[in-house]
Order: sequence, then C-alpha cells, then structure tokens
Amino acid sequence: RQPIIIDTDPGQDDAIALLLAAASPELELLGVTTVAGNVPLALTTLNARKVLELAGRRDVPICAGADRPLDVPLVTAEHVHGDTGLNGVDLPEPTLALDGRHAVDFIVQTLREREAGSVTLCPLGPLTNIALALRQAPDIAPRIRRIVLMGGGFFEGGNVTPAAEFNFYVDPQAAHEVFTSGVPITMAPLDVTHEVLTTAARIAAIRALGNRAGSVAAAWMEFFERYDEEKYGQDGGPLHDPCVIAFLLRPALFQSRDCNVRIETRSELTRGMSVIDWWGVTGLAANAQVLRHADADGFFALLTERLARLG
Ligand code: BDR
Ligand code: CA
Repeated sequence: RQPIIIDTDPGQDDAIALLLAAASPELELLGVTTVAGNVPLALTTLNARKVLELAGRRDVPICAGADRPLDVPLVTAEHVHGDTGLNGVDLPEPTLALDGRHAVDFIVQTLREREAGSVTLCPLGPLTNIALALRQAPDIAPRIRRIVLMGGGFFEGGNVTPAAEFNFYVDPQAAHEVFTSGVPITMAPLDVTHEVLTTAARIAAIRALGNRAGSVAAAWMEFFERYDEEKYGQDGGPLHDPCVIAFLLRPALFQSRDCNVRIETRSELTRGMSVIDWWGVTGLAANAQVLRHADADGFFALLTERLARLG
C-alpha cells in the first residue's frame, strides 16, 4: 500500500478526491491536512471532517493548517464552489473530532516517523502547508517519496488570471519553494484536468450507483460544473483534484513529460504562472513530471467503481 497524506481545501473536487482515496485499498491514507484556499480555513477543515465521515473513515486524522498564504492576502473562490465551499448538498454536522496537531507539525512528524522515501504528499490546494513544512524541517525533503499535486496550467492558460491557475495564484511563493525543493514532483495542471469532464452521462452513472456517496458526489459535480460549463461552453466541468488520486492508482491513464517548471512570484501580470519548459528550450534540468493528457473514460470508470464501494 502506498502511504499518502492529502493536503486539501475542500472544495467539491477536493471532496471527490478524498472519497476516491478513502475507497481505494491500494492507498494508506495517513492523514488529511487542511489549508485556506477555495474558502477560509475554518470551512475547509469543517468540510474535510464532513467528507471523511461520509466516507466512513473516522480512523484518519484531520489536522488544520495555514489560514493564509505565505506573504500575500488570501484569495478565495466562493463564486466557483459556493459560500460553504461544498454547495450542492447539505451534509450533517460532523461528530468526527479534529486532531489537535497543526498540519505542518503532522506532516513533519509523519515524514520523520515513517520509513524514508515511503510517503507521498498529495496537495490539492495552495501549497502553503507544504512550503511551511519544508521551511521548518528541511530534513524532510529527502524523506518524501514524491509530491503529486494539482496546480498550474500552460497550454490551457489560467483559470483565475489569463496566466495563472488558482492553487498557484493563491500562494505563488509556496509553489515556488516546493518546485525548487528538489523533491520529485508530478503535477496535474489544467491542461490535463480540462480533459476530465463531468458530462451528464458520467454524472448519471455515478448517481445510478444508488448509494449515499454516489448521490452526494453527483450533486457536487452538478453544482461545481455549472460555473465551468457556462464559462467554457462545454458539456461538463473539469474534475481537477481527483486526477491526483487517479494518477496514484492508475498512472497509465495519463500521458506526461518530464520538464523544468518554474513559478512566477514577482510579476503582477503573471503572478503564480507555471512556466513549463515543454520543448526543453532552457536546457534546465527537469524538476517535474507534467501530466498532459488523460483517458477520461478510464478515469470515470475507476472513479465510479470506487465510489460504489462506499456506503
Ligand atoms: C483548483 O482550484 C480549486 O478551485 C480546485 O479545488 C482545484 O484544486 C483548480 O484550479
Ligand atoms: Ca482544491
């Protein structure tokens, strides 16, 4: 089993990624850490508790982390996710308790305790907690097996500015520190997530599972896709964050290339842009595996099969 920590800002697509991970026996979910992003930290933390409770995974510790980016004010995305971050269905108030540790302490402690090179970090939101952990404890960098994250975009451009994707835009300095950390990175940028679309037929198949997890996931997708469908004029919205978990489970669903990736931190115009040297024009060493295309039917077959395993 692959031991993983998911760092997240739920978010409907984060929530579906959590369900996919929780339902997958190949993954050992060591903990879920939360960060401010789509909505403020208090809500992302509440949402993580609701989702793990829905998944029946009361065994997984949930630790709250950074409530703001490293050195810029927090920007949120209620216009995409709704005022709770998880609009689309009302989940009951969770009884699952929060772990008392700070997310950064949890990440550092877990990496030090576990066998070096075994734990994969899966960031699905702004990279604030990961950057803080690397700052606080540089000794953890070589102990991380790899970081598989959702963020960035190159050929597709940005979704919050013409240049930048939301997670990197919110905390560009954190993204920069992670990409220069020397830890092996796999990134799922908008270029790949915009191929994984929640079409009406795919949502219907998930709803037809007839279980609670399926009907909740379908309601989230219906809410979440409205924004993107309107914006991009396509059938269905992109299901960004679950690509990270699907990659861990079935890497063959994705096509990728190893590239040098740098993050813009200073420019006002291109803040948070991921500059991906796809054609190798800089001669700089590759620091990331960049996912570019996905087998969307294979992805939804996997997601549907896994959601069926939940209650
Ligand atoms: C990313 O931003 C958030 O809105 C989503 O949860 C995803 O992580 C996509 O740009
Ligand atoms: Ca997210």
